[in-house]
Amino acid sequence: MNAKQAAGYRAAEWVKDGMIVGLGTGSTAFYAIEKIGERVSQGLKIKAIATSNASEELAVKYNIPLITAGDVNRLDLAIDGADEVDPGMALIKGGGGALLREKLVAINSDRFIVIADSGKMVSHLGKFKLPIELVPYCYEWTLGQLKNRYDVAFEMRMRDGELYVTDNGNYIVDGAFGQILSPGQLGDELKAMTGVVEHGLFVDIAHTVVVGYEDGRTEVI
Ligand code: 5RP
Repeated sequence: MNAKQAAGYRAAEWVKDGMIVGLGTGSTAFYAIEKIGERVSQGLKIKAIATSNASEELAVKYNIPLITAGDVNRLDLAIDGADEVDPGMALIKGGGGALLREKLVAINSDRFIVIADSGKMVSHLGKFKLPIELVPYCYEWTLGQLKNRYDVAFEMRMRDGELYVTDNGNYIVDGAFGQILSPGQLGDELKAMTGVVEHGLFVDIAHTVVVGYEDGRTEVI
């Protein structure tokens, strides 16, 4: 068992009969979905909402019943990965491009469990480039505003030689902030910029972090 698998499998234990569960995105969330799917095949009765098309496909593969947001007001639990986790449980997310749906699901869940291999635990956020989702319309102007405001490198995310397009039809720019000393403040500033749809800073959202280690151990914070 590797670190991601250990964290994902452990978090899946929080899922109980009758729950509405948010399914995260990425290689760590994959293991949580896999384990939840295994439990569903053994009789666990839940409903789930996926944070990306990729996770939705996985849920279908594992016969996890899916709902849409219109069916419920809130979720009992969401389980998702992270790119960085600081000691105050602030996160950088969005390495897989699903930050908007992930944040919507996380903030509308009674409990948000982050699953991370131990390499994701950092003293300060920012070494991982911060994903920022932009409206395609006039995105060059939004990018210009970001560059004027912050003296760091910004790179439009690409895939197969073209601008990367999120499941919501938007673009992503990754910002090399280096060290983010006030994630809450930076998040508020970014959110206030016209043209920015969402950013990957998740501050005061996570309730629990499950850390996985290469020897298969887990630690719950
Ligand atoms: C996707 C995410 C992922 O949760 C994050 O990138 C971690 O991915 P992985 O578990 O593959 O390391 O935020 O948008």
